[in-house]
Amino acid sequence: MKVALIGIGGMGGCHFMNYKSIPEAEIIAVADVRTDMAKGKVEGTGAKVYATMEELLANEKPELIDICTPSYLHADLAIKALEAGCHVLCEKPMTLSTEDAQRVLDAAKKTDKLFMVAHVVRFMEPYAYLRNVIKSGELGKLLRLDMKRISAIPTWSWEDWMRQPEKSGGTPMDLMIHDLDYVQSVLGMPDSISGIYHALRDDNDFAVANLMYGDIIVSTEATWFHTGIPFDASFLAVFENGFVKLAGGELYRNGEKVDLGAAKCANEDLGINVSNADGYSVEIRYFMNCIKENKAPEMVTPESSYNSVKLVEAYRAAAVEC
Ligand SMILES: NC(=O)c1ccc[n+]([C@@H]2O[C@H](COP(=O)([O-])OP(=O)(O)OC[C@H]3O[C@@H](n4cnc5c(N)ncnc54)[C@H](O)[C@@H]3O)[C@@H](O)[C@H]2O)c1
Repeated sequence: MKVALIGIGGMGGCHFMNYKSIPEAEIIAVADVRTDMAKGKVEGTGAKVYATMEELLANEKPELIDICTPSYLHADLAIKALEAGCHVLCEKPMTLSTEDAQRVLDAAKKTDKLFMVAHVVRFMEPYAYLRNVIKSGELGKLLRLDMKRISAIPTWSWEDWMRQPEKSGGTPMDLMIHDLDYVQSVLGMPDSISGIYHALRDDNDFAVANLMYGDIIVSTEATWFHTGIPFDASFLAVFENGFVKLAGGELYRNGEKVDLGAAKCANEDLGINVSNADGYSVEIRYFMNCIKENKAPEMVTPESSYNSVKLVEAYRAAAVEC
């Protein structure tokens, strides 16, 4: 499958490495405004380098366009790529507003091309495992879910776009959306949402949301600290008959470590033969498989990605600003 990558910075570089390990994928071209940097990254692979997606599309015919640019560019690039007749995989968040997300939904509906947002957490094994435990009811009813995503403030992004809330959406849209998206993909939209938001200042940005589902309370916390704190994503899910906990990269069920390789968790949902792969490779292969079989991507529908943007907006509207 002929693939073109738009943006080959941090996340684009990660996607690029993953495509290289997928035999069915051929990266024919990359577009990045930093052409010299891009040339260095693709050297020896045969991929052509362009400064813009428009220039790339004028010269190449990719089947799949993968958008890994700064988030404020997602909407317009996704729409142009769909209109050019390409399937589109787009990094999260889908867009920075529901207004823009609606424009992408409309564009996707007008074509016969597939569109998926790369909500990688849905494809990560510990989270797929938790989803199965919630849905199967094997530990009884879910009572409480607490999710955390802690990171040092990103200082590496192109032109420092991540530290500009109007370009990244700050921690709620950039970081907390991972867990909000996961929660709503498993439990649906909550009855209500509240929280606190500490706006970006002194290079600290801090968000906590509480989502009510009847008598179940779900909390998500996302933080950019100015210190060089190591990245950490964790959760604790309490059920009537036990708990599932992700801590320090290890998954536990009622105190026992879970062997994810043996747990066969993600595979059942995906319908493709992948095991022990990290989330990025799984999501890319899943979407390529959808294209191959001309099947809409049920793991992440465009509407559910719209809902995640909507949830972040609802949180921002409800949160106490401090
Ligand atoms: N799924 C995840 O875990 C995860 C993690 C980090 C970032 N992301 C997402 O990935 C996207 C990119 O983030 P990043 O960390 O790679 O940022 P980055 O700044 O490292 O990379 C962005 C790249 O886009 C290029 N670019 C800018 N404008 C462009 C344009 N008009 N056309 C082509 N290229 C252009 C820049 O030169 C840069 O190389 C964001 O949407 C971000 O939210 C996802």
